[in-house]
Amino acid sequence: MKATAIANANIAIIKYWGRRDEALRIPTNNSISFTMDDQLQSVTTVEFSEKLRHDTLQLNGRQPKPKQLARVSHFLDFVRTKAKKKKLFAKIVSKNSFPTAAGLASSASGFAALAAASTLAIGLRSFSENKKNLSMLARLGSGSASRSVFGGAAEWRAGVKKDGSDCYSVQLSAPEKWKDLRNVIAITNSKEKRISSTDAMTRTVRTSEMFKCRLESVERRLRIVRKAIYDRDFESMAKTIMQESDSMHAVMLDSWPPIAYLNGISLEIIHKVIEINDSYGRPVAAYTFDAGPNAHIYTTKKYERAVRKALDDVDGIERVMVCGIGDGVRYPKKDLF
Ligand code: DP6
Repeated sequence: MKATAIANANIAIIKYWGRRDEALRIPTNNSISFTMDDQLQSVTTVEFSEKLRHDTLQLNGRQPKPKQLARVSHFLDFVRTKAKKKKLFAKIVSKNSFPTAAGLASSASGFAALAAASTLAIGLRSFSENKKNLSMLARLGSGSASRSVFGGAAEWRAGVKKDGSDCYSVQLSAPEKWKDLRNVIAITNSKEKRISSTDAMTRTVRTSEMFKCRLESVERRLRIVRKAIYDRDFESMAKTIMQESDSMHAVMLDSWPPIAYLNGISLEIIHKVIEINDSYGRPVAAYTFDAGPNAHIYTTKKYERAVRKALDDVDGIERVMVCGIGDGVRYPKKDLF
């Protein structure tokens, strides 16, 4: 009744920001991301036991906040219901290889790993061995987790059904397909964010007048990015990636009260990337920001050094790391306990 799974974080280039069904975490639009390599990963071991009276969670060697445990237990309730074992509780130990809640998408890798480990541990093989079903389930823990089930590039389809049965991710291309793609990550603040993405996107859908307008441009951007991924053509999607990130941060600011995740360093990085592209006369790098101030600069191996060098001029960056494209969910032999 014990199982362990690994999942890597993903960084979206077409963003999930807004839900049409809050409880079922059904998004307002499709989104597309690349799954990162093993530098950004969560490893999770789950053991169900008749002896336990409630779920216990250890996160990065520490006791979790009550809110974190409640979210994990709520997710496991879906797993227990599907397995028809409503009174079976679990011990969960999870470790991230990167700072939690720093805008580095720890909920995506965390819930993808939890979905995989818990379904394997409880014997739900139609989920642990079926990526479509696993992605649909992981979505209930954290929307972006549905994409981390797959390696390479993944598209999370919003679907049209009310029950979310057509709302899951599919792989657009395997990790091997785009070996020279890079995400140069500049950590500008590793502290926990003030407002969670869960709460912030609800606020945007409720209060932003610009949100409807954003949804119209997302459809066009999805088409551009899908084709670029298929053709492995970075230049043809670079501008779209940046506009998409700007559009999401614009509707965040248009919410009330306004949501501002970017800091002064993030804005300087935006200008640096525009400068690099100008100096080459074509787009060789593209910035994107999630619900946090850390920059993700997609580029190709050829321009990785140029991007890193340009970042040297920006004061206040805490750390730079470079990620390649990585794998989806997998089950290692070793458990965490
Ligand atoms: C800005 O997946 O963290 O990173 O479903 O509430 O857990 P919940 O939200 P979450 O939101 C991620 C938002 C984003 C964009 C993206 O990853 O697509």
